[in-house]
Amino acid sequence: MINGIKLAPSILSADFSRLREQIQECEQAGADYIHIDVMDGRFVPAISVGLLVVEAIRRSTGLVLDIHLMVVEPEKQAGPFMDAGGDIINVHVEAATHLHRIIQDVHQREKRAGVCLNPGTPVGAVEEVLPEVDQVMVMAVNPGASGQRFIESALPKVARLRRLIDEGGFRAEIEVDGGVSPETAPRCAAAGANVVVAASAIFNERGTPGQNIERLQESLSGVRRGA
Ligand code: DX5
Ligand code: ZN
Repeated sequence: MINGIKLAPSILSADFSRLREQIQECEQAGADYIHIDVMDGRFVPAISVGLLVVEAIRRSTGLVLDIHLMVVEPEKQAGPFMDAGGDIINVHVEAATHLHRIIQDVHQREKRAGVCLNPGTPVGAVEEVLPEVDQVMVMAVNPGASGQRFIESALPKVARLRRLIDEGGFRAEIEVDGGVSPETAPRCAAAGANVVVAASAIFNERGTPGQNIERLQESLSGVRRGA
């Protein structure tokens, strides 16, 4: 954690033939969570990873596993992904018919519940559950792939959410997912986010995951919250 901001490497851009090694490198560099993008080919076109990979990652690290469910009918998947070792279960409000019930189920298992907002979904879509959730994920790209460009409207959205959470005295953390880089990460944090997810800024040709994490940490070290 740098300056109160947590870093969640997303394995979506990792080298899966060396996944354990890459995760351990993130852990050593000071990552807080490992973010796992689960795509079902229906909520988003791509199919990524499922339960077996989450189980394998659970055996590879003690870090918090932040599960991002980009799936239809998330009420059917929350349980299995908790069984597989997920610590934070994030569901898209656009996919969940019974959002409140899923949050209850996750809490019953003493896990953390997160809700995700696509770029086109207003903050108001989570207002009723805001007192209940542990995390709100603001997508700064349309979900489905890593390496996309940061959508600027995510920043005022984070700021609006920060106000609602602070005014209500709620505990929810704000996570930004998509297009996070040493350029955008400090702006997310200044707007009020306290968790940033990054795939392509960490797993790339420009450096090792450790070096790239260091760059992100440096970018976050001077941030003034609410600036
Ligand atoms: C997008 C995923 C993100 C993605 C981020 O659908 O939810 O977690 O891996 O990738 P970058 O950091 O490259 O935008
Ligand atoms: Zn994600």
